[in-house]
Amino acid sequence: MTSNNIEFIYQDRIFKIENPDSNETLLNYVRTKLKKTGTKEGCAEGGCGACTIVTGELKKNEINYKAINSCITLLPTLQGKQLILVEDLISKEGSLHPVQQAMVNCHGSQCGFCTPGFVMSLFSMFKKNSKFKDEEIKDSISGNLCRCTGYQPIIKAAKSLKNKNKVDQFTKNKKTTIDLLKKINNKSIVIYNQDKKYFAPRYVQELKKILKKNKVTNFLSGGTDLSLGITKERKDISSIIYMNSINELNYIKNNNKYIEVGASTPLIELESYIKKYYPDFTKILKRYGSPQIRNVATVAGNIATASPIGDCLPLLLSLNAQIVLQDLKKTKILFIDNFFVGYRKTRLKNGQFIRSIRIPLFKDNIFKSYKVSKRFDDDISSVCAAFNLEIVKNKFQSVRIAYGGMDAVPKRAIYCEKILSNSQATEEIIDKAKKALEKDFKPISDMRASRSYRMDVAKNLLEKCFVEIKQKKLIEVNV
Ligand SMILES: Cc1cc2nc3c(=O)[nH]c(=O)nc-3n(C[C@H](O)[C@H](O)[C@H](O)COP(=O)(O)OP(=O)(O)OC[C@H]3O[C@@H](n4cnc5c(N)ncnc54)[C@H](O)[C@@H]3O)c2cc1C
Ligand code: FES
Ligand code: FES
Repeated sequence: MTSNNIEFIYQDRIFKIENPDSNETLLNYVRTKLKKTGTKEGCAEGGCGACTIVTGELKKNEINYKAINSCITLLPTLQGKQLILVEDLISKEGSLHPVQQAMVNCHGSQCGFCTPGFVMSLFSMFKKNSKFKDEEIKDSISGNLCRCTGYQPIIKAAKSLKNKNKVDQFTKNKKTTIDLLKKINNKSIVIYNQDKKYFAPRYVQELKKILKKNKVTNFLSGGTDLSLGITKERKDISSIIYMNSINELNYIKNNNKYIEVGASTPLIELESYIKKYYPDFTKILKRYGSPQIRNVATVAGNIATASPIGDCLPLLLSLNAQIVLQDLKKTKILFIDNFFVGYRKTRLKNGQFIRSIRIPLFKDNIFKSYKVSKRFDDDISSVCAAFNLEIVKNKFQSVRIAYGGMDAVPKRAIYCEKILSNSQATEEIIDKAKKALEKDFKPISDMRASRSYRMDVAKNLLEKCFVEIKQKKLIEVNV
């Protein structure tokens, strides 16, 4: 079934919007059309969390609650979901939600501008069978900025939720909500609004048909990069194909040789899945934007953006990942090494999309990665480094090292790799490898870091990697 209107669940009812403007943000709709002004706008670029709302999505007959940044969410992507705003947390009888009450009890608010966003982030955590561990609490609010209360009262409020009864109005209404979600869940969207086109196919087959008729179009996955063109650069995006509506592409598979991640899989899912195989991959993803960003952003979007500071990219380069590309007629598999051709330029052709990413499993290797940024949470990397090493009897058998933030593209450190490959792990070799990084990279100075700082950090991360390996007694070198 194809439709030119979107439907979503709000306050236990199905809401319908005919022919919405595909460039309108959800935040704008909520504040100006629904007239719910509890949700605030701070930065309009996903960075402050003041606009955080929660969506409920059907997943295996359960509701998956996700905190997202409404300022960079395009309205039509609400199709088939439940919308929950800060106003909706108060029960019909007028009592505060346990999360709101905890914020009151612990004095978690002063000027109040950030408060609705914090409440919604904590609400999403509350709904997720949370164990309320310190790490989980900090992660859940890492995308919310507060400039006057300070974080301790908010963390205290979150901790106090641990012993609260978790049955709220959303739990009581769960069956009704699931039934409503099922009613609106099964349609593809085609919207022509003045000169703007928006498509949300549900299957790859439908996507191909759209591509056949629409030669120039923008793929939208999580929108955490693309939407900023609208909110910050004030551009119109005239043709959009929403990829995250294709459930067929939302998967993680593993055949013992590689992990395959479907293009519309949110990073948050990869974050928990990959921990068993590459704990450092998870460590980097935990510092990737915020939960609001990772709830929607995808690896495919990160790769297609080809930003020199895209955090997945050095990791995927060092792991020798493959990108499965698809167009109308065929599938092509490309090593990520050959994918980036210049600053934010890739080998993606018009009409071609990323279908999945394959991440090889190096069971006997050591994989380490590091991110250095000005702020620990919710910040873009100054330098990101990844090391994939096979070491046998103190000798490097195979070495793949890649850096982000050191060039116009994320890149392998080929000279450095050459020095290490087939060498004994000695202090001299590691010093030479550090020096070789000067041949590999000529980083730029910008607002994040100076050229010399980036080079120093790159060398230090290499050293850090070997110090840590040595501590685990996997090599015997003195560094
Ligand atoms: C507040 C904030 C914090 C951020 N923090 C980080 C961070 O810490 N580290 C980091 O690396 N990035 C960060 N980003 C950048 C961004 O989140 C990532 O690049 C993200 O992975 C993009 O994925 P997406 O699914 O949202 O892509 P989108 O924004 O939907 O798309 C990005 C680009 O990829 C194209 N595209 C999307 N899907 C496909 C596909 N399947 N096939 C072909 N092309 C496709 C789009 O057309 C577009 O050109 C941050 C962004 C924000 C707003
Ligand atoms: S307004 Fe700052 S994250 Fe949306
Ligand atoms: S209470 Fe004022 S910014 Fe947080």
